Amino acid sequence: MSLASLDAEKKRVLMFGGKGGVGKSTSSSATALHYALSGERTLLISSDFTPSLSDIFETPVGATETSISGVPNLWAIEIGLDEVMRRWKEKFGPQIYQVASAVVDMPYDDLIDYVGMAPGIQEEFMLDFILEYVRSGRYEMVVWDTAPAGDTLRLLNLPSRFLRHLRTAPRFYFKAQDMLGVSKLPFLDLINQWSDLSEEIMRFFTDPAQVEFVVVTIPEALGVYQSRRVIQELAQHGLKVRRIVVNGVIETSDSEFLNCRKNMQHPYIQMLQNEFGPAALTKMPLLSGEVKGLKMLREVEAVLFRPC
Ligand SMILES: Nc1ncnc2c1ncn2[C@@H]1O[C@H](COP(=O)(O)OP(=O)(O)OP(=O)(O)O)[C@@H](O)[C@H]1O
Ligand SMILES: [Mg+2]
Repeated sequence: MSLASLDAEKKRVLMFGGKGGVGKSTSSSATALHYALSGERTLLISSDFTPSLSDIFETPVGATETSISGVPNLWAIEIGLDEVMRRWKEKFGPQIYQVASAVVDMPYDDLIDYVGMAPGIQEEFMLDFILEYVRSGRYEMVVWDTAPAGDTLRLLNLPSRFLRHLRTAPRFYFKAQDMLGVSKLPFLDLINQWSDLSEEIMRFFTDPAQVEFVVVTIPEALGVYQSRRVIQELAQHGLKVRRIVVNGVIETSDSEFLNCRKNMQHPYIQMLQNEFGPAALTKMPLLSGEVKGLKMLREVEAVLFRPC
């Protein structure tokens, strides 16, 4: 089945994840193009440390929303953790400093950087950052080209760690309150606020009515085994993967070499079909050219969203 089945579901965020180099950016760019061409205001976000959207769309894309020339309704942004943390500092810095400076004497930047190193904070605010685009109402569809598999899992794993950390934090602060002999530490309000935010983020990203996580893979051992692990781990976080793009499939072969690779791919495609059901798979053939520029992206889009 193709990704066209997603059209009727009206999701707010489509995430693409998978092992390095399997075609996440290609698939997410073609998907964003699909929704923009259907008239939906679409934002394509890349959170990869080495983003490639500028190369794929052959137009500069930076850390602010950039309109993609030649495609109405399409904007893109390449965002790194540094930028996320800069915005986090802007949003929460003064409040953190206000409460923390009551008990510690540290320069503003040192203190905020120190708090920013707490486990899960960076990932938490990457998710918050993306959620803010959804909340802003400026976009009908947000397509997120996530960083390679390990990082994606970290991203989804750590907010729950952060949440656990926040749940135990009040005990610690009550103790500190006793020891310092003060009647009320303002930390608690901030912690409660973050705890609410964290819960809201987890609720949103695990809501199948709003978010879909599409795994991209290639029909080879490393791709299939890693996808299986990613899918299992996402399930543990309440995120059920229902769609897998199998990229680089060799459908026709006119040489001994391609025939060998086609035969190599066959059992892995079977394996994915048996495990996740044929309806979950969208097969994307290996194209003869690199996927770069709008013409090639439209070719990919046409296959990924072939009418069901
Ligand atoms: N179906 C395809 N046919 C031919 N080339 C493809 C296909 N899909 C992707 N490619 C090419 O493979 C390369 C890797 O694809 P892409 O950048 O989308 O992968 P990625 O998963 O985003 O990689 P990374 O993990 O480095 O971000 C690119 O040069 C792209 O043009
Ligand atoms: Mg990429």
